[in-house]
Amino acid sequence: MSDTAATAGAGERTAGSAGPVGAAGLIPAPVSVTAVPDGGAFTPDSATALAAGPGTETTERWLRGTVGGALGLPLPPGPAGAPNTVTLVVDAELAPEAYRLTVTAGTGVEIRGGSGAGVFWGAQTLRQLLGPGAFRAAPGAGSAIPAIPAQTVEDEPRFGWRGLMLDVSRHFTAKSDVLRMLDLIAAHKLNVFHFHLTDDQGWRIEIKRHPRLTEVGAWRPRTKWGHRASELWDEKPYGGYYTQDDIREIVAYAAERHIRVVPEIDLPGHSQAAIAAYPELGNTDVVDTAKLEPWGDWGVSPNVLAPTENVLRFYEGVLEEVLDLFPAEVSPFVHMGGDECPKDQWKASPAAQARIAELGVGDEDGLQSWFIRHFDTWLAERGRRLIGWDEILEGGLAPGAAVSSWRGYGGGIEAARAGHDVVMCPEQQVYLDHRQHGGPDEPMPIGFVRTLEDVYRFEPVPPSLEPEAAARVLGTQANVWTEVMQDRSRIDYQVFPRLAAFAEVAWSPLGAPADRDWAGFEGRMGAHYPRLEALGVDYRRPAGPLPWQKRPGIKGRPIEGAPPNV
Ligand code: ACM
Repeated sequence: MSDTAATAGAGERTAGSAGPVGAAGLIPAPVSVTAVPDGGAFTPDSATALAAGPGTETTERWLRGTVGGALGLPLPPGPAGAPNTVTLVVDAELAPEAYRLTVTAGTGVEIRGGSGAGVFWGAQTLRQLLGPGAFRAAPGAGSAIPAIPAQTVEDEPRFGWRGLMLDVSRHFTAKSDVLRMLDLIAAHKLNVFHFHLTDDQGWRIEIKRHPRLTEVGAWRPRTKWGHRASELWDEKPYGGYYTQDDIREIVAYAAERHIRVVPEIDLPGHSQAAIAAYPELGNTDVVDTAKLEPWGDWGVSPNVLAPTENVLRFYEGVLEEVLDLFPAEVSPFVHMGGDECPKDQWKASPAAQARIAELGVGDEDGLQSWFIRHFDTWLAERGRRLIGWDEILEGGLAPGAAVSSWRGYGGGIEAARAGHDVVMCPEQQVYLDHRQHGGPDEPMPIGFVRTLEDVYRFEPVPPSLEPEAAARVLGTQANVWTEVMQDRSRIDYQVFPRLAAFAEVAWSPLGAPADRDWAGFEGRMGAHYPRLEALGVDYRRPAGPLPWQKRPGIKGRPIEGAPPNV
């Protein structure tokens, strides 16, 4: 393989994605790579030892199991800094997620990180330097170990929140595939997994005190095939859920990879599956909720929670179990949804209208705000923070709440200016369910055309934001809604390769969108595609879908004409 350092001039320092960094194919691009003049190279072999200092145990296990397993390197324990050794050190002089990776001929590799996380991200860079064979599960053809030229990589992320949201309600992602997605996230140095666990179409997390949530709420009788404009239905019952043991396993697996998990329990809208399980949660004076089933169609269901004390108590019970399953160290934030709550049932319901008067909240927006404020306080009392979609601004934002800005930048700008933390995930740019090409062959095409380059040029911090407000932007996340993604292969196709561009936006200092080195990124993708192939990712090829990735005749709903950076 070619390498950054091999093409950099002697002692030359290269920054961002430009120039010689391109030759290494490192993605996301590190802050800088410094070549060592006539420094030679280091090639790990079966005698290479692993010296793991205190606080680097997760990386030690991962390097030995994942990278060692791929390349057939046993990586036995050895003393730090000895010849032919990979040395891992926590160095508190560095920022927590920063790392310095030094390759020295003869001695080997040293990864110093500001914390266990920084060391882990450094190890991800080492894996990339070890070629595509390091992305396989076992050694074989193509896993020859390359010589790594002497060099120093200095690196740290631009944002502390680098996320992916996966909707497991519309289509269920099996536990094994969730674990695989966590590995893929880690390989791109992303550190937040937003787990969209509940919605109209299915409740996916076992709650022991309310067993019907999964006995009834996890299963729907049939499913729309394609966008809701499609006439096609899959008439098979469909469903699935994670047991509490599954959830614990997922959370532990994420923590081992320095990924925080944000569980989402969506309310007061997107709640039809919960109401189907427990009809008393709905607005029983205006709809016969006993007749509801988890929804098989897409869109926004009118069936929303009733604004009662019983509903609050029910969800407090749900959250008590959620907090137990998602400990504070891994999940400081709990997402309470708050998006797309149609107010029609509350307008029609005498009980809801009486509640508006009794609570003195003014109108239906006030009721929505009342729900979110209740759980904001409830979570804060338990040492957690609420985050919600930007509709939670309507009717007044709860005091400590953070906002996922999805309907554009506007909600995020308003919240940041009011002193709230914000995660930028505007649907116009980083909804990866949206099609990635305007051609006729995209499978079930929906939404705007957002190409790999469009994602590469996405800027999470609007330039109009004052520095103080800009500092409230915790970071960014890409969202994956799965209405038209029935299985892992369809998810892979929508997510990759765009997640590689997104990861670089979240991690690397790229500068203003117009100035970004798109050609350099595209060049480095030449080294990244073989990694994705080695990992078995069904990514979209630059030339378009392979024959089996097309879905001819299944209706999507393309949206024409929206500019990429609206
Ligand atoms: C959303 O896309 N409804 C958050």
